[in-house]
Amino acid sequence: MGILFGKKILLGITGSIAAYKSAFLIRLLIQEEAVVKVLMTRDANSFISPLTLATLSKNKVLSELTDNAGTSWNNHVELGLWADVLIIAPASANTIAKFANGLCDNLLTTVYLSARCPVIIVPAMDEDMWKHASTQKNLAQLKSYGNQIIPVGTGELASGLTGEGRMAEPQQIINFLSDYLEPIYLKTKKKLSGKKALVTAGPTYEAIDPVRFIGNRSSGKMGIAIAEALAKEGAEVELITGPTALSTSKYNIQTTRITSTAEMHDAVIRAFENADITIMAAAVADFTPEYPSVKKIKKQNGTSFNLPLVETTDIINALGKRKRPDQLLVGFALESNNEITNATEKLKNKNLDFIVLNSLNDYGAGFELDTNKIMIIDRDEKQYTFEVKPKSEVAKDIVDFIVQKLII
Ligand code: CTP
Repeated sequence: MGILFGKKILLGITGSIAAYKSAFLIRLLIQEEAVVKVLMTRDANSFISPLTLATLSKNKVLSELTDNAGTSWNNHVELGLWADVLIIAPASANTIAKFANGLCDNLLTTVYLSARCPVIIVPAMDEDMWKHASTQKNLAQLKSYGNQIIPVGTGELASGLTGEGRMAEPQQIINFLSDYLEPIYLKTKKKLSGKKALVTAGPTYEAIDPVRFIGNRSSGKMGIAIAEALAKEGAEVELITGPTALSTSKYNIQTTRITSTAEMHDAVIRAFENADITIMAAAVADFTPEYPSVKKIKKQNGTSFNLPLVETTDIINALGKRKRPDQLLVGFALESNNEITNATEKLKNKNLDFIVLNSLNDYGAGFELDTNKIMIIDRDEKQYTFEVKPKSEVAKDIVDFIVQKLII
């Protein structure tokens, strides 16, 4: 029996193309044996039929404050008290703005204002609306009220454009909901709740000219798996990632996408101050072209071409210098020879608390793979070895190690 068994879920649906996903969400909730009641705004009716939602949820769908005849009303206070959790999926920019400002001009906004249960908001909108300062301000406002926001995904949007703004997939919402409700109902305390974590992932790209760059084969898998494992333990996670096709929307992870080492440096330095735990899993470029060209570089009739490179700023080194005693700083080392000696040197030189060593000589370790094999070395030069495992399990090992370090 899952954590959602018997939970009373009030699902608010607002006017968005993504409303079709709500039908799948209801189906999954019913499969989990949750009790579902649906509220929809008037605009949501243009996107999905109340009959579909009523049939799937096995309950009457409510939309108006009063019935058609105006002779009875839908008691918003009772609905708010009935629910164990209120989810708004999809949540349009308009409804988010109303929630943030306490407007209550329809049944859903009125229920929101009177609900005492946890509220989970699953936004869906076009990228420009998503990125607009007012939407971001409203979301920050909702977070400050204690509401949970499931981040949007990136991909094809209803406008035909591609970008950020897609509603999280129904299965991701179910995962998020289960993870969120588990500690509340099972009274298990997550080990990193109240902690702030900063994670970097992926490669960085250094521009040679407008079309070419120096990069590396890092996929971002390891860093993203670590961000997810930290979030699963209750940490508030900020992920700063270089170019990667991957994304994470299963947990409440604030993601900043950057391209170059200089951009990663600025974003990391900004976030570091507030981070209790920082893990630099990114494969940061060590060199950058000294004179990146603003125009595409042309061939020179067979003559050779020299590209002068200069070293990039060592980000983790800068963090090691700023690190306070209450902050934990973890680095990665990918080595091909003298692995332990090199990694230990990096640990000391960069003032890290521990370093995660990957050896290119180990089968199953390295970039682009789904597995990894690590050794953790701490400041006392103690070595902890782990087997080859899927990156999600490696991430859990690293997070468990951090938890132990924080307890000691
Ligand atoms: N790192 C960093 N900034 C850089 C280069 C690396 O913050 N400009 C971080 C990486 O994210 C990693 C750690 O430093 O956590 C070690 O990276 P690695 O490339 O193995 O070490 P380097 O110091 O760059 O040494 P080398 O490449 O010469 O082995």
